[in-house]
Amino acid sequence: MRINKYIAQAGIASRRKADELIANGNVKINGAVMKEPGYDVAEGDRVEVNGRLLESRGKAEYVLVNKPLGMVTTVSDDRDRLTVMEIVKDIDARLFPVGRLDYNTSGALIMTNDGDMAYRLTHPKHEVYKTYRARVAGVLSNEKVARLRKGVDIGGFVTSRAKVNVIKGNQHSTIVEISIHEGKNRQVRKMFAAVGNPVQELERIAIGDIRLGHLRPGHYRKLTRDEIEYLKKC
Ligand code: URA
Repeated sequence: MRINKYIAQAGIASRRKADELIANGNVKINGAVMKEPGYDVAEGDRVEVNGRLLESRGKAEYVLVNKPLGMVTTVSDDRDRLTVMEIVKDIDARLFPVGRLDYNTSGALIMTNDGDMAYRLTHPKHEVYKTYRARVAGVLSNEKVARLRKGVDIGGFVTSRAKVNVIKGNQHSTIVEISIHEGKNRQVRKMFAAVGNPVQELERIAIGDIRLGHLRPGHYRKLTRDEIEYLKKC
């Protein structure tokens, strides 16, 4: 396997960043600096990045997790809260979450050991739509829906076009689906707050075309070959 891919699969960096690390002399193979970007890592090679020895990688793994409420989307938590790693602990690969969901948001989260894909999926320029189902307080008027679709100011940042679809509602609350391709911190909550309808519940139901479906909270499934191909093309 090419050295940049090997580093990316170890979850250290994207393939592009790995190329930089190689060019800058931060990568050693069997104790010697290796600046050849086309180097093919052989069985038994010791690969070090910035002095850290990479474990030899198995194949790339891609899973879809249904993150429950009350779990953090990190590999470890300094406050000892449950992390999404708990859900995938029986998988023999060092997975990490792609992007993040708030503690109080549930739903679709991709986890992988493919750093390259993780980088591409979280980069704003790749524009993978994420779809959320929200319960928001009060009535969401047509005028507010139009504002959300066009873009709202969430405090120094105006969101770009969004797909917004009201599912049902009454005077107390509205169920609405919203698709966005930016990943600002707490963006969906801030967008609804900006039009005066705070979010009461939030679930991510799809990442691009990959839908959560009937996956139960706290469970995972492996992505299908078609889904992996789809993500690689995104
Ligand atoms: N937007 C939010 O407000 N929270 C999330 O967890 C994801 C998107």
